[in-house]
Amino acid sequence: RRLKVAVDPVSAEDRRAIDDAAALVVAGRLVAFPTETVYGLGADATSDAAVARVYAAKGRPARNPLIVHASDPEQGLIVARADDRARVLAGLFWPGPLTMVMKRRADCRIADAATAGGPTVAVRVPALSAARALIRAAGVPMVGPSANRSGHVSPTTADHVLADLDGRIAAVLDAGPCPVGVESTVIDLSGPRIRVLRPGAITTSMLRAALGADDLADPADGGDLPADDGLSALPSPGMLGSHYAPGHAVRLDATAPLPGRREVLLAYGPPPPGFAHVLQLSADARPREAARRLYALLRAADGFDVDGIAVAPLQVSPADPDGEILAALADRLGRAAAPRD
Ligand code: TXA
Ligand code: MG
Repeated sequence: RRLKVAVDPVSAEDRRAIDDAAALVVAGRLVAFPTETVYGLGADATSDAAVARVYAAKGRPARNPLIVHASDPEQGLIVARADDRARVLAGLFWPGPLTMVMKRRADCRIADAATAGGPTVAVRVPALSAARALIRAAGVPMVGPSANRSGHVSPTTADHVLADLDGRIAAVLDAGPCPVGVESTVIDLSGPRIRVLRPGAITTSMLRAALGADDLADPADGGDLPADDGLSALPSPGMLGSHYAPGHAVRLDATAPLPGRREVLLAYGPPPPGFAHVLQLSADARPREAARRLYALLRAADGFDVDGIAVAPLQVSPADPDGEILAALADRLGRAAAPRD
């Protein structure tokens, strides 16, 4: 069922849609919901049964933990052993696209399955009012993995959600396209130095400015994740191997067509000639616009009868303060292009 709601819900119809969605969550059902980043697959984070349904609906490996979504910073910080660094970052970036991995509090009510039985919990407070209104109305924190089948492209519209999960969820709360378009920045605060596990719209420079350089781990030392041997506890299990993958093969840094190969090009700025089809991430190379459009265009590219998807180089213009956002796109595109199992 599709429940329409405004990004900033105020009307009586919005209220009804949110209350209907919240009632489904309280009943242990799955409700996809909009956030500023991507649509999430929502369920009661305190219910083992509801969380198990989320893993089943996504086809997600049980050892890949979920993000707990809170309606406000207080609800977000109470499930974890939050330190001063977490409080500073929450004050600056919550609500917003920052997920903090912290040591889990022993007495928190979060279902063990949500953290994959691990000692840490990932928490965020989404910025979209509709998302926070839903969590507040449900009265419980909600898990919210991206509302796609595991390994597929994340959804930035309710139609994307239904394309992947129709028949597996009770409803989707539809607030239109997501304004950021790539998933939240994930940082690990469980160690002495903060480590960026997944780049996003809260950039490393923003974190460094907030904390001082000494609090952030040097990405050069230990930035690489251990090999996925299926056994070791992984710092962030969701960040391995192929991911965010469309149906077609993806080729990066494409500056010209390959002979004998028909490709749809995702262009960033003026497109080189000769490609079978061109989809524009951002005609005047604006990082935020490209982030907003990336996943919709990857899904659209799958609709073309071609040999593959080519992606133009995402060149940072030195003067652009948003240039660092391209690190998040490069990260997702690298995984989309990674060899598939
Ligand atoms: O923007 C977002 O974060 C979206 C929206 C819906 O909020 N959600 C999202 O969830 O991207 P998901 O499940 O698709 O990605 C969560 C990532 C995964 O890579 C997971 O491995 C990692 O966060 N993660 C979750 N809990 C963790 C933990 N305790 N330690 C390390 N990594 C964790
Ligand atoms: Mg995901």
